[in-house]
Amino acid sequence: MELIVAHDRAGLDKARSSGSVALVPTMGALHEGHRSLIRMARAMGEQVVVSIFVNPLQFGPDEDYARYPRTLAADLEICAEEGVDVVFAPSPDDMYRPDRQVSVSAGEMGTIVEGAVRPGHFDGMLTVVLKLFNLVRPDIAVFGQKDAQQLALIRRMVVDLDLPIEIVGAPTVREGDGLALSSRNRYLTSDDRHAALALSRALRAGAAEREPAAVRAAAREVLAASALEVDYLVLVDPATFAEVPDSYRGEAVLAVAAKVGSTRLIDNLPLTF
Ligand code: PAJ
Repeated sequence: MELIVAHDRAGLDKARSSGSVALVPTMGALHEGHRSLIRMARAMGEQVVVSIFVNPLQFGPDEDYARYPRTLAADLEICAEEGVDVVFAPSPDDMYRPDRQVSVSAGEMGTIVEGAVRPGHFDGMLTVVLKLFNLVRPDIAVFGQKDAQQLALIRRMVVDLDLPIEIVGAPTVREGDGLALSSRNRYLTSDDRHAALALSRALRAGAAEREPAAVRAAAREVLAASALEVDYLVLVDPATFAEVPDSYRGEAVLAVAAKVGSTRLIDNLPLTF
């Protein structure tokens, strides 16, 4: 089957099949992490749609929207290799009318942890994800655990706004040395890349402990000894992103964000107490 590239709703409607549709939303610069999401979608839906759109709404004024890698030709090749049926690659003008008014609010959960460092980021992210859902109308949508708060907020949006879509979470794909794959890794110099390993090392040090207080302390120790400029290290409930108490029992996420040189990276590990 030829890969179909659609740029707007009419193109999507023309390409739509009658079977189940699985969507993988991305901002392009595709890597092995995206490939693993696509494979999961391939296994779950009869038709796989990958969206590629660098969403201006989710970047702050001092963030990397302008320099974010745009590699459409290589991305289309990867999608063809992975047996994707349709790529949806709209332009910013197609997605956002200049007079647009209405958008999605991520609520208070959008203002904590990652949202505290990136005001408005999660509102912009949810707005584009809801638009993609309405344009593609998938039965299933696959997101990475790598962006754990994003995944939690999308699950909340689906519940709170009654969206008829099954959300599937996919595990984080890492390099052999532990670095979580990210489109932003291509900004890293070799020194930066080496320094960035402290993120996953800190998470593993935390995960080796058994109590919340010890998990936080072990991870913090690794970060303190590193060259990273840490934005946060938190141990939170995966559904709410609220910090868990020391007596906590259940699922948790140890999440970290830090700057390496001029590049900001995030990572996390799911833990069970
Ligand atoms: P992007 O950063 O391109 O990521 C697209 C999807 O790939 C997300 O669900 C993300 O969690 C997942 N992903 C990224 N790195 C991964 C890794 N190492 N292992 C597994 N999955 C990984 O996230 C976005 O785009 C945007 O916010 C988007 C949801 C497309 C809305 O604009």
